[in-house]
Amino acid sequence: MSTKQPVGAGFITEIPGTVALGRPAKDPRAKGVGVLGLHEGRTLLIGLETRCRYARAVAGCDLSVEKLDASRAEMPGLCLTADYGEMLARPDVDIVAIYTPDALHAGHVERAFEAGKDVICTKPLTNSLEGAKRILDAGRRSGRRLLVGQSTRFFEPFRRQRALLERGGHGGLGAIEMIDAHYIHRMDWYYRKSPWVATDTDWVFLGLSHPIDLVRWYLGRIATVHAVGGKSAMGAQFGVAGRDMYLVNCVAADGRIGRAMGHYGCHELPTARNCIECVIYASGGSSLAQYHDAKFIRTAEAGAGPVGASSFDPGELMEVTEDCLYAGRQYYFNSEVHGMHYGEFANYADTFAKALIEGTPASPELEEGVETVCVMEAVRRSAETGRVVEVGPLLAEVGLV
Ligand SMILES: NC(=O)c1ccc[n+]([C@@H]2O[C@H](COP(=O)([O-])OP(=O)(O)OC[C@H]3O[C@@H](n4cnc5c(N)ncnc54)[C@H](O)[C@@H]3O)[C@@H](O)[C@H]2O)c1
Repeated sequence: MSTKQPVGAGFITEIPGTVALGRPAKDPRAKGVGVLGLHEGRTLLIGLETRCRYARAVAGCDLSVEKLDASRAEMPGLCLTADYGEMLARPDVDIVAIYTPDALHAGHVERAFEAGKDVICTKPLTNSLEGAKRILDAGRRSGRRLLVGQSTRFFEPFRRQRALLERGGHGGLGAIEMIDAHYIHRMDWYYRKSPWVATDTDWVFLGLSHPIDLVRWYLGRIATVHAVGGKSAMGAQFGVAGRDMYLVNCVAADGRIGRAMGHYGCHELPTARNCIECVIYASGGSSLAQYHDAKFIRTAEAGAGPVGASSFDPGELMEVTEDCLYAGRQYYFNSEVHGMHYGEFANYADTFAKALIEGTPASPELEEGVETVCVMEAVRRSAETGRVVEVGPLLAEVGLV
């Protein structure tokens, strides 16, 4: 059902029903994937088996015996090992997918490239400029390809928001002028599960990688950032080494502006807000994509007209809501109402595997991912010093420009 109303009036939702879960037949050219780190990585293994056409699960690796046993019970046919070298040596592993703690990504990506594998690396690609340079150099040396698992881009409403843009002129909404993205999440459970989160990384990489990637994806090269940051009571309680709250203003090379916000020590959000949101302000309208509620809301072209009889001028600006939650929850959340990333991980793995098979580009690949690390590091430095930081010198330092 699709219902359009004038902006400001109430709205009825559209439930597109385009996301169904059924094991797709594997393409005979499907790429074999070996997953390193089997907590969040387990989500990908399941996604590969149940949702992907161009990629299949062949191996898993983790240092934890419990994690290996859990995956063995769930997926008996997999090769499971605690030895990364053993997984890298397998000829049926075409793609290595990395889900270890942030600070370990650079070393794990390097080894995969050196073994001649293509790589999926979860966000953040890495959490230092030094790591970014190592990854870029190893990628260039090996000639292998890498996709960063920026899951938000691959969640249904965010895909629709992008598809509108790619149809041209932001689907009648005009040229993008400003973007506002955030990721806010109460994280006490995460510190308890994974203590490295407090001490061995910074939320500018771990959390802000989602909104910063979105801002950069839409605005292109970011020239300068100005950030402020702080530490919440929850962050202090769990011994967060850096900051867990950030507000960031970005100016693109072409002068357009954007904002990214992150808060990881909050309590609960009011229901009106979602933990990840991306608002695009264009010259002729605006749009909003939400995670977890899975809504995509946009103003529509004048003259699009309502469904059925109208009591208002059909030339007025309209609002359309596409509500993907109930149609998509089985695919995206494995039938839970809110949570996990089964659909997004499967979407990016399939996108990358298909691009490898067909020799076509995907996004965000190696250089784009490294550029996002440079923007995140610029944000960290700006919050540290209180100064505006230019991204260009960081791009030069890692060898991107
Ligand atoms: N939306 C998303 O895309 C998303 C969501 C959550 C986490 N992540 C990312 O995934 C990564 C992992 O997060 P997590 O929550 O699963 O962390 P986690 O601490 O729960 O799990 C990490 C796993 O890696 C294993 N491990 C650590 N060192 C290893 C090594 N040297 N060799 C093999 N296995 C090793 C650990 O035993 C553990 O099972 C992080 O980079 C995080 O940012 C991404």
